[in-house]
Formats: sequence, C-alpha cells, structure tokens
Amino acid sequence: MAKTVKKDLVLSACVEINCCKLLVINNVSDLTLQISELKSLGKKIGFVPTMGALHIGHASLMKRSVRENDITVVSIFVNPRQFNNPEDLAKYPRTIETDIEFVEKTGVDIVFIPEEDDVYPVNFSVPEVDLGRLEVLMEGRMRPGHFDGVVQVLTRFFQLVQPDNAYFGLKDFQQVAVVRKMVEYLHLPVNIIACPIYRESSGLAFSSRNQRLTEAQKEEALFIYKSLLKAKELAKKMTPVQIAEIMKQDYSDSSMELEYFEIVDPVTLESLTDEWTPDAVACVVAYVGEVRLIDNMQLN
Ligand code: PAF
Repeated sequence: MAKTVKKDLVLSACVEINCCKLLVINNVSDLTLQISELKSLGKKIGFVPTMGALHIGHASLMKRSVRENDITVVSIFVNPRQFNNPEDLAKYPRTIETDIEFVEKTGVDIVFIPEEDDVYPVNFSVPEVDLGRLEVLMEGRMRPGHFDGVVQVLTRFFQLVQPDNAYFGLKDFQQVAVVRKMVEYLHLPVNIIACPIYRESSGLAFSSRNQRLTEAQKEEALFIYKSLLKAKELAKKMTPVQIAEIMKQDYSDSSMELEYFEIVDPVTLESLTDEWTPDAVACVVAYVGEVRLIDNMQLN
C-alpha cells in the first residue's frame, strides 16, 4: 500500500526534502501544500507524468529530471480519459507497489498517486485546446478522443505540480508534439523536454505494454524495430511513399498486424510522399496478439 503523507508532516518533510526519502502523496490537497512550500523556497521543479508499469525508459526521464531540477515529482495515474478502448484500459498493467520501489531508486523526491475523482473533481473544467491536424493524424485518427484525454490530465497536473520542466519520452512521438502544442496554446510556463527512446539490447523499445507480452511475443515484436531499420536503409535510395508500400507488404507477410506505417514530417507530422524533409520520422503501430505497440525512428 502507498504510504499516505499526513498533512501535519508535509511542511517539515518539505523543508528537508533533499535529504529525505521518497514522499508518497495520494491526494491533491497534500500535493498543493507541498508545491506551494517548494515554490515559496524558490525550488526548480521537474515533472515526469506516467501511467505506472515503470521501466528503464521512465527511469531515464526521472534521472534526467533529478539532474536538472531541485525537486522531481513523478505522477502515477492510469488516465481513463485517454483510452478510447475500454478493454485496453482494463488490461493496462497496474504494478503500483513495484512502481513505488522503482521510483525510490531513481532519486525522485515526490510520487503523486491520485484517485480519479481527485484528478477530475466535479467542477473540473475541460480545457479547450485546438490541436489542429494533430487530432486527425496517426494516433489522433486511430484513437479518437485519446489526445483530448492527454490534454485534460496534463493541464490538470501542470496546474497542480507547477513544473519548470516536464519530461516526455519520444517513443510517443506525436504525444510530444501534442504537449508542445497544448503548452503553446494555453501559454503554460513549462519547458517540454523530449527524451530519446530507450530500447532493450534486442532493439525492442521499452514500453509498459511489453509486460503483457510473452517471451515468444517479444521476439515477434522485434519485427517492428527491424522494419524501422530497414526503412532507414531504404531511405537512402527511395521515396517515403515507396518505402511505406514495402513496409505494408512486409507486415502483411509477417505474423504482426499493422495499424499504420507512416513516414512523416517531424514538425507537422503530415505524411511524406515523393519528397523528403530533413529529419523525417517513420512512425509505426502494430499489434502482437492483442497488444498494441508503438515505435518510431528518425530516418534521414
Ligand atoms: O505517456 C503517458 O504515459 C501518458 O500519456 C501521460 C503523459 C502520463 C498522460 O497520462
């Protein structure tokens, strides 16, 4: 069970936070007390939002935040509003006890593990953010409402944590673009820091969803990484549309089910066809069994 921070301990714990162990906070009022005290002391706050089932990719974000800020706050909250598929939400791995131990080892100061009704109180006003084309491209197209949910939870967390810096993994390439757009649109005073994808030695990108894969499925999932490497090689001599066609054929000959393979402009995320733009990115989503995996790679 998560340790609950008693209100009367909050402020004294806060003052000594740099030499204290991880503080586990389960509700908004305790978090608010902590943050206002930290802000009044002029502390620089780094924030790593997560949905738990933590892995080395998350650890890299946490460690970077610990290096670059006075205080690091990690949130663990499986946000129901960003799941368009109820089955996916139900099956999302939840490993809170091991997650807390994991966070403790990274040097993080505060882990915030709220309940849904604290994140979304009855008077929660849904932010209006125009994401433009990001809403209809790739993840926006395949998971209607997903980015609305991401925007809702992050505006709420940014409001509560008031971070100077917030850290996101580039595995969710489009999510990083959405968060940047949201911050710009709402004029939020936070730097968004995008961190590289972490891969297992095999090349498989670390993902919370990997916990749902058997060893055999993990082998199968390597096809994704190999397809990205192949696309990178082909990018030396072919157009984006030619490569995307080859990829579709490769996936249909494989055991994996491809949802999309697109080569996109790194800024607009629009699909490229005959012309390359610098730093084009190949974005892929494919299923191994029932598990939806996402990955990407910069090609040129
Ligand atoms: O990337 C994730 O894990 C989630 O989308 C995030 C950023 C924690 C918001 O729920």
